[in-house]
Amino acid sequence: MAGSTLEIKDLHVEIEGEKILNGVNLTIKGGEFHAVMGPNGTGKSTLASAVMGHPKYEITQGSVLLDGEDVLEMEVDERAQAGLFLAMQYPSEISGVTNSDFLRSSINSRREEGDEIPLMEFIKKMDSNMDELEIDKNMAQRYLNEGFSGGEKKRNEILQLMMIEPAIAILDEIDSGLDIDALKVVSKGINQMRSDDFGCLIITHYQRLLDYITPDHVHVMMQGRVVKSGGPELAQRLEAEGYDWIKEELGIEDETVGQKA
Ligand SMILES: Nc1ncnc2c1ncn2[C@@H]1O[C@H](COP(=O)(O)OP(=O)(O)O)[C@@H](O)[C@H]1O
Ligand SMILES: [Mg+2]
Repeated sequence: MAGSTLEIKDLHVEIEGEKILNGVNLTIKGGEFHAVMGPNGTGKSTLASAVMGHPKYEITQGSVLLDGEDVLEMEVDERAQAGLFLAMQYPSEISGVTNSDFLRSSINSRREEGDEIPLMEFIKKMDSNMDELEIDKNMAQRYLNEGFSGGEKKRNEILQLMMIEPAIAILDEIDSGLDIDALKVVSKGINQMRSDDFGCLIITHYQRLLDYITPDHVHVMMQGRVVKSGGPELAQRLEAEGYDWIKEELGIEDETVGQKA
């Protein structure tokens, strides 16, 4: 089977009665890398959280389909089983669950009963991916995200990505807080995932990450929707000129959404 397709259509989201997303349209297919860029407070993280089913985010209009199946009707764990993966801007700590246990159960939840990944195969795969990402081996037995440094959390998210091999991943600010060496390692991991069976939405405030991961499509979010789409050259122009030219072109004065500070 060729890769999956995630279709986000006219998505409207409210948080505590306040409109945050105002009609997001995006289609991500297996084999494609998409970047969503935009200034702070324009709804990028809200998009990621809404697609993954964060309870605080109320969908008031629109749809999200994975290979034609209604994602919004699925529970959060069903979304993961269906092949969606979300790396969060602020990954949470899970006490009492080791990294290794979490990875194994995540992999197995996507396989048929009786077809669990053999332990040796799992260990081999985890070892080689940890080497690839230059992650210390003792991280496998530590509790998930507990006491992980910012950089360790991000590397670990990419380890999860490489182990779980989702159909579609949404990576929110996977580059934030990384030094240049960590950024290179993380990018290498993401690039290794490239295949017809994998589609990726990379949310980033900075163009920096896109020096290492070349997106096929670039989208700019303002006022809780996608206001401009293009190819990699769009990211280059944003790097050189910032976002003001888009605001001028579209007559946007305030690009943010939600409550103002
Ligand atoms: N969990 C939340 N609770 C309350 N308001 C939120 C929450 N998440 C986002 N918002 C609101 O949505 C707006 C957009 O935030 P966000 O999606 O994080 O933007 P971005 O990721 O583009 O910086 C914020 O300004 C805030 O008002
Ligand atoms: Mg954000």
